[in-house]
Amino acid sequence: MDFETYRAESRDRWERAAAGWASRRETMQQATAPVTMWMIDAIDPRPGQTVLELAAGLGDTGLMAAELVGPTGTVILTDGAEAMVEAAKENAARLGVANVEAKPMEAEWIDLATATVDGVLCRWGYMLLADPEAALRETRRVLRPDGRVALAAWDEPARNPWMDVLTGILDGRGLVPRSQPGTPGPFAFAMDGLIDDLLGAAGFGETEVSAVDFAFRADDLDAWWDHMLLTSPTLAATLGTLSPKDHYELRDAFDAGYVQYVGEDGTLTLPARTLVAAATA
Ligand SMILES: C[S@@+](CC[C@H](N)C(=O)[O-])C[C@H]1O[C@@H](n2cnc3c(N)ncnc32)[C@H](O)[C@@H]1O
Repeated sequence: MDFETYRAESRDRWERAAAGWASRRETMQQATAPVTMWMIDAIDPRPGQTVLELAAGLGDTGLMAAELVGPTGTVILTDGAEAMVEAAKENAARLGVANVEAKPMEAEWIDLATATVDGVLCRWGYMLLADPEAALRETRRVLRPDGRVALAAWDEPARNPWMDVLTGILDGRGLVPRSQPGTPGPFAFAMDGLIDDLLGAAGFGETEVSAVDFAFRADDLDAWWDHMLLTSPTLAATLGTLSPKDHYELRDAFDAGYVQYVGEDGTLTLPARTLVAAATA
């Protein structure tokens, strides 16, 4: 893999996904709350502390920490995509929190001085990076001794049909190949012992790896299609390349793949399982 090309393409896709993420903020925040709570508990933010969120997207995880560090503490929301940072700023302004700053930052080269933060949050970010080992080493560098990191990364595809059904359709139709083991992607950390190994290699101790099961919900197949279109950088980018006929066929395949998750009341419940981990610097 050419890392530079990957980084540029990835940033470009996330820049374009930011508006869609902002429009789905409330739904995402509700569905993912159990994961947010696990991560916040794991770093246990205290009044006056500084917490950094990497690959923060809209910053909902960091904004939860902002309440806990209080007016004497600071939360720094960062993301590689400037449009995501703007959306995070708007999210913070909407909540009226004064102890939050948001700025663009590469998770692989953290632009902060050594040993200056007490906690780092990274929800569904590290596994997307070209060099997650570098990002974890950087994370440990900016943490104060005994500072804590908490992360989330998707468990294996079979436990995440909410995403894997679509991934399988795109792969099966020759549109977007599944990412290969050892390359960045949503499932890149879903291997036994890998997160433990990566945290250990970066110098972290007291590592804890666990899993959180939750579900995405949608009113019907149309609503789920809209949600995926607005939040999946891959689906949006792929649709732009399709003829109307291929577009309709893809939509039919999408409905056929997800119909098994429609309940008796017509709504969808889509199982999701993420690995979560925490460790001490
Ligand atoms: C799956 S989203 C997760 C967003 C957020 N953490 C959440 O859980 O809602 C991945 C985020 O990682 C960001 N990202 C991807 N590569 C990055 C990099 N190299 N450095 C910093 N952020 C990056 C994207 O812009 C996007 O906002």
